[in-house]
Amino acid sequence: MDPKAKPVLVTGATGYVGGRLVPQLLHAGYRVRALGRSVGKLKGRPWGSHPLVELAQGGRSGL
Ligand SMILES: NC(=O)c1ccc[n+]([C@@H]2O[C@H](COP(=O)([O-])OP(=O)(O)OC[C@H]3O[C@@H](n4cnc5c(N)ncnc54)[C@H](OP(=O)(O)O)[C@@H]3O)[C@@H](O)[C@H]2O)c1
Repeated sequence: MDPKAKPVLVTGATGYVGGRLVPQLLHAGYRVRALGRSVGKLKGRPWGSHPLVELAQGGRSGL
């Protein structure tokens, strides 16, 4: 099975590290599942509507 067929989960995708990791993974040919507390914030990223990116909401607020 192609190891790049399954998405790589990136937590903290709206943050400094995650926000830079996502485009690097896409450039390398991986699918990405980007997890963040705010889908609106994820959508606003340059890669937010990339066809190989799936946006997912999760995490805790108020911590
Ligand atoms: N930046 C560096 O040079 C560096 C170096 C070494 C280690 N690290 C470590 O790498 C990690 C990420 O660093 P970063 O610089 O990318 O931090 P950051 O820019 O502050 O981003 C933090 C990310 O975590 C999310 N987050 C924060 N609290 C959360 C919670 N309670 N539930 C779910 N998501 C939560 C934030 O989401 P929201 O957008 O919703 O707030 C954001 O996506 C940290 O653990 C940091 O200590 C960073």
